[in-house]
Amino acid sequence: MRSILLTGATGLLGRDVLARLLAADARLHAFILVRDTSRWAIASRDLPHAERITPIVGDLCVDGLGLEPLVRHAVCRNVTGIVHLGADTTFSRPLAQARAVNTEGTRRVLEIAAECASPVRMAFVSTAFVSGRRVGFIREDEAEHAAGWANAYEQSKYEAEALVRSQANDWTILRSSTVVCDDVDGRVTQLNAVHRALQLYRNGLAAMMPGVAGSTVDAVTTSYVGRAVAELALSDKVSRKTVQLCAGASALPLDELLDITWERWALEPSWRRRGIPRPALADLSTYALFERSIEQVGDASLKRVARALSYFAPQLAMPKQFETTTADALLGAPAPVVRDFWIPMLDGLAAMHWRPEEKAA
Ligand SMILES: NC(=O)c1ccc[n+]([C@@H]2O[C@H](COP(=O)([O-])OP(=O)(O)OC[C@H]3O[C@@H](n4cnc5c(N)ncnc54)[C@H](OP(=O)(O)O)[C@@H]3O)[C@@H](O)[C@H]2O)c1
Repeated sequence: MRSILLTGATGLLGRDVLARLLAADARLHAFILVRDTSRWAIASRDLPHAERITPIVGDLCVDGLGLEPLVRHAVCRNVTGIVHLGADTTFSRPLAQARAVNTEGTRRVLEIAAECASPVRMAFVSTAFVSGRRVGFIREDEAEHAAGWANAYEQSKYEAEALVRSQANDWTILRSSTVVCDDVDGRVTQLNAVHRALQLYRNGLAAMMPGVAGSTVDAVTTSYVGRAVAELALSDKVSRKTVQLCAGASALPLDELLDITWERWALEPSWRRRGIPRPALADLSTYALFERSIEQVGDASLKRVARALSYFAPQLAMPKQFETTTADALLGAPAPVVRDFWIPMLDGLAAMHWRPEEKAA
């Protein structure tokens, strides 16, 4: 048996990655860091290969990950790979809070890696949006920039990447784009900021959307990222490499995305009757004026909407294309084309998550 330590197993991607790793290697055992055993009990329902999983109670925010000494000893004696997915993925956190989990938590995972008896591969699941406010072509090997970030989450993950590169002997960084559905069939099990923003626009609550000529939406599915992380995290082929798990060249132009989204929603007579217009695209300075006018004269709910969007929607007006050369070569195929799963994703959202809420409203 060989053992790994995996963090974030109760999360959207972590659970998927864990299942794939265990299915791919019958001799793999996983210690998984969980801070709440009841959440793990729910997340692990129906998870195969439970006999090869050892949940260990701990917290990324506590020194030594809060592990009991005997547990820490067992981890350090046995582990040869770490797959670190645990993170605070909320875009609106203040910087100190995002850093406490994402940056300092990664530092603590690296400390465990350094204590291990055998050489350890540290696979860090990051975000393509460490590129922050950069525009243009984002290379996979781009490690540094001075453009700043759209939110504290992006910054804390950028800082964590720098720690991984400087402190781990053997590392790989796997940067995921935004996950919007489980697979190309469009099922959505976990709602995120993109879905919430779409719902605000669907309900006509925001008249403007950040966007400029060349803006695209890069998005991926859980199954693409899960498969890629499971395949690459412990592979010798990616030692000391950064790989971008993104749609890249097959991201969807924002204008086209709005066209097909409005056309799709207009097929529902009840939505069509509401006559909700497509939002106007605005560059960042115009969008900032729009936000300011809401702060000055908007009611409380409009202010809430504007603040919710402010943490990530401006990314839409910072057009970028993510390089995926290394990912495509290693995985043998590019990520699914966004255009192909966007409509199924909209249908999945409307059917599974929105209509009951809209009816209740
Ligand atoms: N989903 C995406 O669109 C996306 C895109 C780019 C990158 N990523 C990256 O992929 C990774 C996984 O994302 P995800 O979407 O699966 O996230 P998620 O669903 O929000 O899950 C986050 C996981 O981190 C754990 N966690 C949070 N704070 C912790 C702490 N203090 N101590 C220990 N564990 C903690 C959570 O445990 P609890 O159950 O205890 O909360 C959960 O298991 C993250 O590193 C994220 O930055 C995700």
